[in-house]
Amino acid sequence: MPRFFHASGSGRFPHTRLRRMRRLFWSRNWMREHHLHTDNLILPVFVHEGKHDEDIPLMPSVKRLCLESLVATAQSAYDVGIHSLMLFPVVPPDAKDEKGSEALNPDNLLCRAIQALRQSVPSMGIICDVALDPYTSHGHDGILKDDDVDNDATVALLAQQALVQAKAGCDVVAPSDMMDGRVGVLRKTLDENGFQHVLILAYSAKYASHLYHPFRHAIGSHKTLKGAKTTYQMDTANLREALREALQDIDEGADMLMVKPGTLYLDVIHALRTHTLAPLAAYHVSGEYAMLRAAAEKGCLIYEDVLLETLLSFRRAGADVIITYGALDAARLLSR
Ligand code: PBG
Repeated sequence: MPRFFHASGSGRFPHTRLRRMRRLFWSRNWMREHHLHTDNLILPVFVHEGKHDEDIPLMPSVKRLCLESLVATAQSAYDVGIHSLMLFPVVPPDAKDEKGSEALNPDNLLCRAIQALRQSVPSMGIICDVALDPYTSHGHDGILKDDDVDNDATVALLAQQALVQAKAGCDVVAPSDMMDGRVGVLRKTLDENGFQHVLILAYSAKYASHLYHPFRHAIGSHKTLKGAKTTYQMDTANLREALREALQDIDEGADMLMVKPGTLYLDVIHALRTHTLAPLAAYHVSGEYAMLRAAAEKGCLIYEDVLLETLLSFRRAGADVIITYGALDAARLLSR
């Protein structure tokens, strides 16, 4: 806090009593600095080939949806004011290979899901993750060469993956792979193919976090993933590097930036908000969601209360939008 506030005598007790403004609900509301609205929320959903929904044991209340339920979920999300969702396919093990070839199949599960959504909830914003990990037999985000992900060969495939998603009808491609130079190549490929309007939401600062475990469980990559993702995802100790990533992504044509995970990285959200002008998303990831649910099941806290507190903390740190598995719960709570 700047010193002159005190020097000007503007804050001394007993003339100033900060509790005075907190006494009644409407003056508390006058002072409210940040707000959470359904416009700030993106719902991530898992879709699978099955005919029925499947529980995800590590993520209570989240399911692997069949196509029919996906459409119904999208409709109810839209009706409560959540106008964009992020799609994650659960690819059957026999469709996975070393190169993640299924990602380029224009009739893959993800493309069929996009088309079903487009038909039934036409105005819903559809965001697709660009990375090969749901499709590779080794669970890495790209193709391997000498036991490491080969950057440039992977970027070429990711551009084709994004093109397949754009052709299927998605609105936003969100590269989550952390390869160098991928945003620029995606932008160029999309533009050259008539998809100038498709947005790029760059996972700019994606950390090699241990909080993705429930997600990997949900898409079945936890069993096959060999080694860590530390040669491409960021070191959890770094902040300046996040800014370098963000500035590079903006230069390459990103429309929007993302920080992931969220709660342990509020400083990163704040830094990107302070030092860049791009719209900013925060991803409240699977492990963060699972921790809340698990603590609530034990009676340590009330899920709904801490969910809203968490989402508001992202807004305070500077995030415009939040991707959260609790989006529908939050929407329900906000409408009360
Ligand atoms: C794929 C991807 C991951 C997540 C989103 N996209 C997993 C990973 O990088 O291993 C994690 C999301 C979550 O934990 O909720 N690259």
